[in-house]
Amino acid sequence: MGGCSESVDRRFPVQQISESTWMRATAGNIAADYANGFQDVVSGFLSGRPSWRAYHDSLRNASQPELEELAASRRSESLAFLVLMLTGVCNADCGICFTDRKRKPNELTVPERDDLLAQAAALGAQYVYVPGEGEPTLDKGWWNFLETCGELDLPAVVFTNGMIFGDEDLCRRTWGMTPLEAAKKIADYPVYLYSKYWTPDSRLSARLLNVQERRQPYGQVDGVPVPLGLQTLMEYVPRDRVGIEVCVERRNADDVIQTIVPFAERHGLATLVEMMQHNGRTFQDPSYDMTDLQADAVAPLLSPTSCTLGTCKAVVTVQGYLSPRIAVLENQLPQDRRRVVGADFYRLLHETPYIVERRYNLACLCETIPAELAGEKIDLRSVYNVTPPALANAVGISVDAEPQGGGVAVAAPAKASAGGCGVSGGCASCTALCAQH
Ligand SMILES: C[S@@+](CC[C@H](N)C(=O)[O-])C[C@H]1O[C@@H](n2cnc3c(N)ncnc32)[C@H](O)[C@@H]1O
Ligand code: SF4
Repeated sequence: MGGCSESVDRRFPVQQISESTWMRATAGNIAADYANGFQDVVSGFLSGRPSWRAYHDSLRNASQPELEELAASRRSESLAFLVLMLTGVCNADCGICFTDRKRKPNELTVPERDDLLAQAAALGAQYVYVPGEGEPTLDKGWWNFLETCGELDLPAVVFTNGMIFGDEDLCRRTWGMTPLEAAKKIADYPVYLYSKYWTPDSRLSARLLNVQERRQPYGQVDGVPVPLGLQTLMEYVPRDRVGIEVCVERRNADDVIQTIVPFAERHGLATLVEMMQHNGRTFQDPSYDMTDLQADAVAPLLSPTSCTLGTCKAVVTVQGYLSPRIAVLENQLPQDRRRVVGADFYRLLHETPYIVERRYNLACLCETIPAELAGEKIDLRSVYNVTPPALANAVGISVDAEPQGGGVAVAAPAKASAGGCGVSGGCASCTALCAQH
């Protein structure tokens, strides 16, 4: 299977982290982790990157108080974005879904989430990303969540199966309003929605989501069949805040290529195209894998992944545990998993070994961690890291040195950054600790 060296970024612009944000946040986290005793982890990352040499040297020559001062000076720009799961429960049952689709006993409460969101905003988070372990619109605190995002001026990027915007009965039962009213209300908040559009074939969609067809009715936009929920969002939410999400597997790959991506482009919709990964109930299961022909055609359409943002993102699960990656589930965390409730979020991010130790691994871990835990690996069409084009220079060296089972390394080649302190656009002559960038 062939690969691409750079992808086109069709995601919402709000979630496209710039090189300077990545560099500054990464530099801040490096300082904090170094000061906290994780010198080996940090050095492993820095020693392969010539453009960070001066920064590395300055850390090595610094006293402990100097390191702490540097970290503190960068604290408020150390987080590029927060990944936060809402409820675990879902009203669909997609065959490929890696989650268990169940409500969890200790899901974060509204005040607990509010506290976390405020702390994330204070650390510089530019947005909160809600990929969801279940269906976020079913979270009991959904509107509170959006309210808080509005108050904190923290945009939310949320994934939804979109069913609630097309199913009158569900919308009334859950929110006490019609889908049209709900879509209009959504428009009042700083929220960007990726709504599921996996195929123009309503019967196939019902099979993919494993729901009754009447629970996900289809309408039409410009003669193309689309889920009614998506159609409603397109009609009542500003177009720049509506996107399409599609997880590609064998049964819908041709639809993605022929219909879905062209439809999104024609209508100016942000698009998130991702490969089906083997985790949860699809772990070690090759039955949904694309054919070679499909995979080649889909490769250029795949969206950037956030693996390369490992250095400057934080992931919090449904019950409030820190996770190293979006698709690493609570039961895949170590025994001493750390919970954010009542904690100083920044300290937790820099004192938790299973987080810091993976922070500087920019490869895709969503499949490798489950495989490591199981202690075995079979031949599958693996997902791989797609580096956001804006970060290709900053990330530097290839991040997936040895992709598994036909995966392709797609990070762009290294280019030295000009900044002597390792921060893009920073002071080229800076050889001491630089607190200005
Ligand atoms: C678990 S869902 C939760 C949010 C919402 N229910 C939805 O489906 O959009 C979050 C994202 O994970 C994707 N997803 C689920 N199972 C996956 C898998 N095995 N591989 C890759 N992506 C998957 C979904 O397509 C969706 O984009
Ligand atoms: S992918 Fe989303 S909609 Fe489908 S079962 Fe999983 S959580 Fe539910």
